[in-house]
Amino acid sequence: QQGDRTRYVEAHKAAARFYAEQLDGPEAEIGRRFLAERGFDQAAAQHFGVGYSPAGWDHLVRYLRGRGFTDKELIVSGLAQESRRNPIDRFRGRLMWPIRDISGEVVGFGARKLRDDDNGPKYLNTPETPIYKKSQVLYGIDLAKKDIAKSGRAVVVEGYTDVMACHLAGVTTAIATCGTAFGGDHVKILRRLLMDNSRARVIFTFDGDAAGQRAALRAFEDDQKFAAQTSIAVSPGGMDPCDLRLDQGDEAVAKLIETSTPLFEFALRSVVGDHEVGTPEGQAAALEQAAPIVAQIKDPAIRHGYAVALAGMLGILDTQFVVHRVATLARRA
Ligand code: CTP
Ligand code: MN
Ligand code: MN
Ligand code: MN
Ligand code: MN
Repeated sequence: QQGDRTRYVEAHKAAARFYAEQLDGPEAEIGRRFLAERGFDQAAAQHFGVGYSPAGWDHLVRYLRGRGFTDKELIVSGLAQESRRNPIDRFRGRLMWPIRDISGEVVGFGARKLRDDDNGPKYLNTPETPIYKKSQVLYGIDLAKKDIAKSGRAVVVEGYTDVMACHLAGVTTAIATCGTAFGGDHVKILRRLLMDNSRARVIFTFDGDAAGQRAALRAFEDDQKFAAQTSIAVSPGGMDPCDLRLDQGDEAVAKLIETSTPLFEFALRSVVGDHEVGTPEGQAAALEQAAPIVAQIKDPAIRHGYAVALAGMLGILDTQFVVHRVATLARRA
């Protein structure tokens, strides 16, 4: 088993080198243009090992066969897929991001389409394999781990280009999940790096669509200790960090991270923002939705603090009314 694992990792290392070399060729002009338009120069592409997968059916398969890998190894490790007769490359005509584990070994790829007539999904990722488990993978963790441990801070962004943009802007603690929601296994990995640092913070950035915000709120329901150390940074105009850096430069990315809102406060503000709290009816509706969020908080002092804060956000002067409502729900839970 261990022997197989080593083979799959070696195949990925060779594949990453192959794709990186292909980025220099004439066919990859479209990939180089994509990178340049995103504000990534050649040094940046090299730092992250970005490459290009040729558009033909089996360029990588033939290259890796030539280096002694079997078709079965290529299929099981996700680099190739079965086809009518011979296996074909899984990734074709795409920009390739090698995904490395925490020790820096390439275990998979994220692949972006570059041509409109390519009808596959925008991003194609390595499927579950013996060496690639998407629930445990964090893109950029190999580059970020030291600074995460040192600073007691991790920044979770949505995409590969966002990780690149953050690191180039000096936010070297940025990581991203790969085609999946942030979940319990990711928390475990971060917790190991942050050790029980009580002042540790995990900052999520979202491009403004509701999906990412829901993901953070799920993390909050799953793990309260983690939630208490979590903040949310919402970029202006729904731009992701890559777009923000292009539009407003490195400083804007650094500033976005510095101005994050604690998760509980963020959650309450978004509920309150959905209601007309200028009227008693609106206040009551917002309270009904927000009070259960506060009631979930297990630490009584923190729960009380947020109940008082909620009263303020709702413009309810009788703070005790809100505190009492939250306490009633908390007792029932
Ligand atoms: N993603 C994915 N499959 C998709 C779309 C997205 O796996 N079909 C993942 C990728 O990891 C991607 C991340 O979700 O990097 C964020 O998606 P999105 O915001 O749509 O893409 P960007 O990274 O912003 O890419 P781009 O700017 O190139 O559109
Ligand atoms: Mn998006
Ligand atoms: Mn999104
Ligand atoms: Mn995005
Ligand atoms: Mn983007």
